[in-house]
Amino acid sequence: MWGGQFASGPAEIMATINASIAFDKKLYAQDIGGSLAHCAMLAHCGILTRKEAAAITQGLKKIKQEIESGHFTFKESLEDIHMNIESRLAELIGDVAGKLHTARSRNDQVALDFRLFVRDALEKIDVQLQALQASLLARAEQYAVSIMPGFTHLQTAQPVTLGHHLMAYVEMFGRDRARVQSLRERMNESPLGSAALAGTSFPIDRVMTAKLLGFAHPMANSLDGVSDRDFALEFLSIASISAVHLSRLAEEFIIWSSAPFNFITLSDLYTSGSSIMPQKRNPDAAELVRGKTGRINGSLMALLMTMKGLPLAYNKDMQEDKEPVFDAFAQWQMVLSAMTGMIQDFTPNVKRMHALAAEGYSTATDLADWLVRTLKMPFRNAHHATAKIVKKAADKKCLLPDLALADMQSVEPRITKAVYGVLTVEQSVASRTSFGGTAPVRVKEAIKAAKAKYL
Ligand code: ARG
Repeated sequence: MWGGQFASGPAEIMATINASIAFDKKLYAQDIGGSLAHCAMLAHCGILTRKEAAAITQGLKKIKQEIESGHFTFKESLEDIHMNIESRLAELIGDVAGKLHTARSRNDQVALDFRLFVRDALEKIDVQLQALQASLLARAEQYAVSIMPGFTHLQTAQPVTLGHHLMAYVEMFGRDRARVQSLRERMNESPLGSAALAGTSFPIDRVMTAKLLGFAHPMANSLDGVSDRDFALEFLSIASISAVHLSRLAEEFIIWSSAPFNFITLSDLYTSGSSIMPQKRNPDAAELVRGKTGRINGSLMALLMTMKGLPLAYNKDMQEDKEPVFDAFAQWQMVLSAMTGMIQDFTPNVKRMHALAAEGYSTATDLADWLVRTLKMPFRNAHHATAKIVKKAADKKCLLPDLALADMQSVEPRITKAVYGVLTVEQSVASRTSFGGTAPVRVKEAIKAAKAKYL
């Protein structure tokens, strides 16, 4: 492709270090799509004759068929997907194939292919995130009134409902989707026509190729066009945040399914047994969702480091951009599928969650709030009195709703039996009616609103 001034061939190691075909062949459809648009534009602008363009178009379509039917031989000696396709085009249609590369460089070509790939990946991820939200919403609806312990510091804090807990993740994945959507819009401009770095002297029509490829407009600066990889970095950073969300949910499933917690049971579908301990059921899928978060975040770090300090415009370092994105995309898709399956599959042990919600004096805040509301005590004093009452209950080895009125009155004489209206977990949860709170009425509203917003 550049024979002119080179006397000897490259060192042997060059074939291995320089070639990207092993992974960038994934971009064949984007590469051919971009070439078809470029070719149509060259003809439209009178840079190619209609006849030349027709021959090139036919040849490119044939190559696509060859690749898709497994009849294309990818050659490492031809470095990358762009040169593999161009070289095959020359075999098929002869010298005229060389005219396709007029007013174009592999630099804008690869920037285009990769952008098209990421744009498509974003659409696929959005569908999967939506499916995960749909599964969470279905389970949240099912358990909108099921009470479980709510935690802070992983210590029993206040009772919540399982539906409320699951809905927190619907919100997180909703923000992931919003980030996907916003990147989709921001990245939707075409680098094609930036050529090697400076643009071209041919009278090309960049708006035409942008439109043909579904972009809003061409990128405004040719140097930026060939050297920008923000879209890949943003893709990886959204993937990383989303993986962290998935990992937190996975971690909860791992804790909840452990024997001491026993909040939920995972079926055979997403667990494995132990070869030595017959009683065990290991939450492998959840652990791998958690584990792959490291790998996805690693891909983000890899590309950030690759891009750091690269002068404008294109540098061969940038060939290292694809594998982290391909891998993170594949892993992200995998963990989304696994998590969606687990959400549909898990069985909450509703009775046990409910029983544990009442332990650890989880309604102590409700008692303190009652003292504030009914006796007009300052919250700090109420907090103090409640702590004393909790200690009394602990001494008597009973829960707050079972503590005698006399015991409470020994701490605060003005307490009346009306206090028993706020001490059970049902009463506690039902009272949390502030917007976004865990009261079943609010949770049901939140589910309805989320369905309208996301599904
Ligand atoms: N394989 C290259 C890449 O992935 C394509 C662009 C090569 N451009 C160049 N000037 N050598 O980045």
